[in-house]
Amino acid sequence: MDLEVLNGLLRPKSIAIVGASDTPGKIGYTVVRSLLESEYEGPIYPINPKGGEIQGLKAYPSVLDVPGEIDAAAIVVPARFVPQVAKECGEKGVKGLIVIASGFSEVGLDDLEREVVEISHQYGMRVLGPNIVGILSNTDKCNASFAPFLPLPGKASLVSQSGALLIAMDASTYIRRVGFDKLISIGNMSDVNFADCIEWLDQDENTECISLYIEGLRDGRRFMENARKAKKPIVALKSGVSAHGAAAAASHTGSLAGSEKVYDAAFSQAGVVMASDLNNLFDRTLALSLQPPMTGDNLLIITNGGGVGVLATDSAERYDLPLHFAPEEVQAELKKHMPEFGSAKNPVDLTGMAGREWYQESTHYAFAHPWVDGLVILYCETAMTDPQNIAEGIKAAVDASGITDKPIAVSFVGGERSEAAMRWLVEQGIPAYNEPDTAVNAMSALRDFARNHSMAEAPSEPLDGVDEAAARAVIAKVRAEGDRNVTEMESKTIFTAYGLPVATSKLASTEDEAVALAAEIGYPVVMKILSPDILHKSDAGGVKVGIDNDDEAREAFGTILENAKAYNAEADVHGVLVQEMAPWGTEVILGSVNDATFGPTMMFGLGGIFVEILKDVTFRVAPVAEDQALAMLAGINGAPILEGARGEAPRDRKALAEVLSRYSRMICDLADEIQESDANPVIVYEEGQGVCIVDARIILKPKAA
Ligand code: ACO
Repeated sequence: MDLEVLNGLLRPKSIAIVGASDTPGKIGYTVVRSLLESEYEGPIYPINPKGGEIQGLKAYPSVLDVPGEIDAAAIVVPARFVPQVAKECGEKGVKGLIVIASGFSEVGLDDLEREVVEISHQYGMRVLGPNIVGILSNTDKCNASFAPFLPLPGKASLVSQSGALLIAMDASTYIRRVGFDKLISIGNMSDVNFADCIEWLDQDENTECISLYIEGLRDGRRFMENARKAKKPIVALKSGVSAHGAAAAASHTGSLAGSEKVYDAAFSQAGVVMASDLNNLFDRTLALSLQPPMTGDNLLIITNGGGVGVLATDSAERYDLPLHFAPEEVQAELKKHMPEFGSAKNPVDLTGMAGREWYQESTHYAFAHPWVDGLVILYCETAMTDPQNIAEGIKAAVDASGITDKPIAVSFVGGERSEAAMRWLVEQGIPAYNEPDTAVNAMSALRDFARNHSMAEAPSEPLDGVDEAAARAVIAKVRAEGDRNVTEMESKTIFTAYGLPVATSKLASTEDEAVALAAEIGYPVVMKILSPDILHKSDAGGVKVGIDNDDEAREAFGTILENAKAYNAEADVHGVLVQEMAPWGTEVILGSVNDATFGPTMMFGLGGIFVEILKDVTFRVAPVAEDQALAMLAGINGAPILEGARGEAPRDRKALAEVLSRYSRMICDLADEIQESDANPVIVYEEGQGVCIVDARIILKPKAA
């Protein structure tokens, strides 16, 4: 990252507005007015061919006429003039362009957009936009945009792909009381993208939480890499869920993928916390910008009302933070701060009689106790208590505890007085929400951040027993024979080169050979037609299972060839595959797609009807190390089946995790060749008995034209 250039673009010390105007209603007028109204302290240089004065500032015909240095140029002239303006800015030594103008790739003018970036890069400039609102920064008192005013000051920064949404969020920061230091509109992302902004905001001393509104990413891998490296929490709202490629996908996995699941997987692998909608983005941003991560699973809830306590308990389960009873000693101590009929279990119900003293004492004790990893305090407004007084008690208890590495969130349910008390709490750094559910959700964001971040280590250990050259030799042979499909035998050879446990399969060209191979493998065997032109072997009558002796093998060989010929007389038949008949166990499926955004991505799920009907599958961007693969196994609804449900023996999850990890390595190493693949069915045996891949399929990328 070129820090100096990005600082010039995103924290400019001087700004030119190219296309500045004295005519109210024009964007070139509004941007100058915004800078003046935000009391920007650096020099502002309006640029307009007419020169003269604009809104009381001296205007220059070109940036080349400006006497001082210019860090950033906000460009508000029609798109067709932007390349020329970029050239002049380059000659002037401007560091970055804030291209507010629309009319580029979003309307199909990709070449014009590329031209602007190319010119800018020739001069070492970076480009934000085009098609953006601009940038806003409270620290720099800089509103270089046509958004009406700077946002409510705070510790988060927002990067938005949508300009309109950024403007809308700017105004609503005041209503929602969620503060931001910077708002960055990135529009078409011709040059500066989310990955750049994450890297830059991670080192920005005025940002504690990075909030993103994303419609789509270009370079998903770089985004993941920078998100993974970031020390600050990142929370993202992703819109534009499409059935991306699903309809066209040739394999099972492709049709189950769709970008939403892949995005979800990639974000959690990269340590990014997800938001479900705009409200949720604000709520989670508030907690992540004010509070430390929640590093353990023990959430304690303190309340004065049973009803809100139960609601919060339900929410905790919903957000994957189920409550546990506090240890006896904690309960005994808390019992001292409530009436006889209160409850010290979890939620801790101080009852409607609770005033400041009980809230303060129980908060003080619970917050400091090592068993408690996070605290949610609920309060229902009563006639006997003053919400502000309760808020001050909570704040005093937190301060007195001296704890700074543990999160707290609050929900006051009531009227005006509760609202005012919550505003005060937020100003004191304690996130406060008017719904118990929201407070618990905010706490779960702090838990998600800690969980995802600790899981987000990139896998690095090389695998032994991998022969990439052997796999590539098979692919080269297929490629050399024209645009044909990879056969099952070839797919299995590639799998075997990655140390994957494939059922023993051998190719027979004659009836005698088939009988000899069947005897060698050991009855019972399975026999299948092998032809790049017959992918749906069963439909062609090309599969016979449970072959028990030489006579049956002879008969099956003949029948399979006859059926294949009847199905497709033109098919190029390589022979008949004789395969060991794997004993039955638990059936699972592995698959891969080469995702347009994230590259090789792997799917895992239970096989058979589970995948067909329940679609109980989970995705990960490859590669995946063995411990991450184990987490993947635990991530499906049917996980208890592998763990050994209802008296069944546990399945060999360790062997399966190794298979997943090797498979993920294969699709990464061969990502330039493999478009999709699957292993279906894969049979998993009892612990210590391993895994057997019964059928394997690889679909190559189309040949480059
Ligand atoms: N250098 C300097 N000034 C110039 C140049 C030049 N090369 N060429 C023209 N100008 C001046 C013009 O003379 C004019 O000044 P004036 O008012 O004194 O005459 C000023 O620059 C603006 O030029 P116009 O031709 O009047 O352009 P206009 O203001 O109508 O539109 C704009 C320009 C705003 C860039 C428009 O083309 C555009 O892209 N609008 C959409 C912007 C947008 O919405 N972006 C955000 C998308 S996100 C969202 O939707 C919220």
